[in-house]
Amino acid sequence: MAENPEKKPSSYAIECGEITKSFGSVVANDHVDFSVKYGEILALLGENGSGKTTLMNMLSGIYHPDSGFINVSGERAVINSPADSIALGIGMIHQHFKLVEAFSALDNIIAGTSGRLKKRSVMRDDISAISGKLGLNVDLNKKIYNMSVSEKQKIGRASCRERV
Ligand SMILES: Nc1ncnc2c1ncn2[C@@H]1O[C@H](COP(=O)(O)OP(=O)(O)O)[C@@H](O)[C@H]1O
Ligand SMILES: [Mg+2]
Repeated sequence: MAENPEKKPSSYAIECGEITKSFGSVVANDHVDFSVKYGEILALLGENGSGKTTLMNMLSGIYHPDSGFINVSGERAVINSPADSIALGIGMIHQHFKLVEAFSALDNIIAGTSGRLKKRSVMRDDISAISGKLGLNVDLNKKIYNMSVSEKQKIGRASCRERV
C-alpha cells in the first residue's frame, strides 16, 4: 500500500466488506471482511484453496466481486482493472509472476507505466534509484527468463514502487 503521510496510522487504508466471489459452483470468497490500516503489516493465512489469492486479485483488479464492497482511504472504490487498482495506490506482487519472460527487467517495469511515460533514460535512473533505496540490487538489463525466483520477486517489488 502506498505511503500516505496525510493518513493517520489508525485509519483504514483498505476495507473489504461482505465480499463474495464464485467461480461456477465454487464459492471462493463467502462474505469476507478484511481490513488493513495505514502502516499495518498483515499476514493473510489459510490453507490452499481457501480464497486468499481470489481476494487479493479483487483488490488488484483482476477479478470483480459478485457482491460486497471495497473502501480505499474510507471511500467506496470501483476497481475494474489493474490500472484502477494502481491509481488507488494499491501495488500487488503476485505469487505467480506476471512478467514478460522475453523482456528485460527495465522493459517489464516500464510496460506497466503507460499514460505517464517519461524518457527511457529518466525512467532507468528513477527505477535504479528506487531499487537502490529498497536495497534490491537488480540488473535492469537482465532478461526475465535468466532470472531466479528471488530476482523476479525483486522486479515485482521495484515495479510496485515505480507505479503506485
Ligand atoms: N479462475 C478460477 N476459476 C475457477 N476456480 C478458481 C479460479 N481461481 C480460484 N478458483 C478456486 O477458488 C478457490 C480459492 O482459490 P484461491 O483464491 O486460489 O485460494 P488460495 O490462494 O487461498 O490458495 C479454489 O477452490 C480455487 O480452485
Ligand atoms: Mg493463493
